[in-house]
Amino acid sequence: MRRFVMGIAIAVAALFTFVLPADVVARNYSIVPEPAYMDIEAEGEYIVTGKTRIVVNDEAWNPAERFAEDMMSYFGLKKPMHTSKRGKGIKVRTDIFVPAEGYEMTINEDGVVIIGGSEAGIYYGLQTLRQIIVANDGKVPYGFIADEPTFAYRGAHLDVSRHFFSVADVKNYIDIIAAHKLNRLHWHLTDDQGWRIEIKAYPELTEKGSMRKETLIGHGLNPVEWDGTPYGGYYTQEEIREVVAYAAERYIEVIPEIEMPGHSQAALHALPWLGCNEQIVDVWTTWGVTPEVLCAGKETTYEFLEKVLDEVIELFPSELIHIGGDECPKERWAECEHCQAMIKAQGLESEEELQGYLVARIERYLNSKGRRMIGWDEILDGGVTPTATVMSWRGLYGGIYAAERGNDVVMTPMSLCYLNFYQTESREGEGLHIGGHVPFEKIYSWNVYEGMSDAARPHIIGVQLNMWSEYIKDMDTVEIMLLPRIGAMCEVQWSHDRRDDSTIRAKMELMRKFYEVNGWNCAPYYFDFRK
Ligand code: ACM
Ligand code: ZN
Repeated sequence: MRRFVMGIAIAVAALFTFVLPADVVARNYSIVPEPAYMDIEAEGEYIVTGKTRIVVNDEAWNPAERFAEDMMSYFGLKKPMHTSKRGKGIKVRTDIFVPAEGYEMTINEDGVVIIGGSEAGIYYGLQTLRQIIVANDGKVPYGFIADEPTFAYRGAHLDVSRHFFSVADVKNYIDIIAAHKLNRLHWHLTDDQGWRIEIKAYPELTEKGSMRKETLIGHGLNPVEWDGTPYGGYYTQEEIREVVAYAAERYIEVIPEIEMPGHSQAALHALPWLGCNEQIVDVWTTWGVTPEVLCAGKETTYEFLEKVLDEVIELFPSELIHIGGDECPKERWAECEHCQAMIKAQGLESEEELQGYLVARIERYLNSKGRRMIGWDEILDGGVTPTATVMSWRGLYGGIYAAERGNDVVMTPMSLCYLNFYQTESREGEGLHIGGHVPFEKIYSWNVYEGMSDAARPHIIGVQLNMWSEYIKDMDTVEIMLLPRIGAMCEVQWSHDRRDDSTIRAKMELMRKFYEVNGWNCAPYYFDFRK
């Protein structure tokens, strides 16, 4: 029924676009990501100022309070905008007839009314209103908007292992992704170069595993040099809870990633008995793929992983827990008596299948705790269970393959979603980055469903941008890599079937102003027509 109403609304909108005169067309809301339906009246604007009240009709205080705070910098206020139970202004409430993450917004002489399908829906409506206010200098044109997302999973990843980002930085990252209506933060908390989450059962993980002696300089090519400076950092469990709560207030679920069995050298440094040969290794000071991985043959490894996950589950309410699973060389396993004994005991054929065994065993453990497992697409290689969610990064193929066989999939192919890649072909002025080339236009024109059957489509639960931090040392650089490309990404995530090549540039010019108002750094390349 809701879809039907939205369908009619969209059909009516299509009619209007043909008959509106040019001066009316110039009146627009200019929203990124593109709403499902907009009907702008020819005349009239409701003026929103720092004194406008946000009127909360059914206890939906949280989205109203977030908006009241978020608008402080634009209006130059010392205190948040006023929220109250009564009065005129921006009225917000929920209604079950609006899609869960959707909203309907009406603007007329009485003010603005936002009806969300949930508090999250109100929050997204208020994100839209933030953009309209900034784009139109507070004069909000009369009209109506109805909106809902394409994908349920709209993710942004942040690697805090290669470089560490403070709680304040992570909150800032959350603010930016929330303003683009994303709803998942994939927090990459452990890797070879640093273990960043306090685990009370194993204090060594952060005492020893959160610091590396030094860091590779540049790409480490000829000569290979290190900077000689110790580097580290980690989050206490209290800080983790603070971030999870902050994200939840912005309707973002935090999905923690604990890497296994590869990308675990920091854990091996802290607890050498986790390795096949128990040799002492450093927290890694170089980027890439190390042969030092967790032993998949010893019961003590599984005990360790379960105890770590027990604490992770306590800290993160997210149903999905990310177990990594990518880039795990098998040479240590090939020479390890424990790994070989496990292969034999379990009737496995190869080291690849041993990884499949480990991943499936961890999945069963998570399921026994009421959680579900997500892993990078290498989890397909050792024979994946039908219930695992697959994050397709090596390309589109893993995701398509998994979706065709009925697994849920998050698409994050590096050729389109790795925002740590360069933004221009020439790379001029971009500083040193890991490589690759992902310009705005490439993301914006991506058809996520290309190459898959109709039956596979519902298994694509969403799309995610990734922010790996080997060459990203601070939040200013994260912002430059994220903005404006997240504008293209959120259009894919929220507005997949309604993107419009003819309006995106003008919309992004206004988004640039929006970023400036919020104090966020934005890369110039897209605006300079550099690809
Ligand atoms: C990855 O980039 N190794 C998931
Ligand atoms: Zn082993």
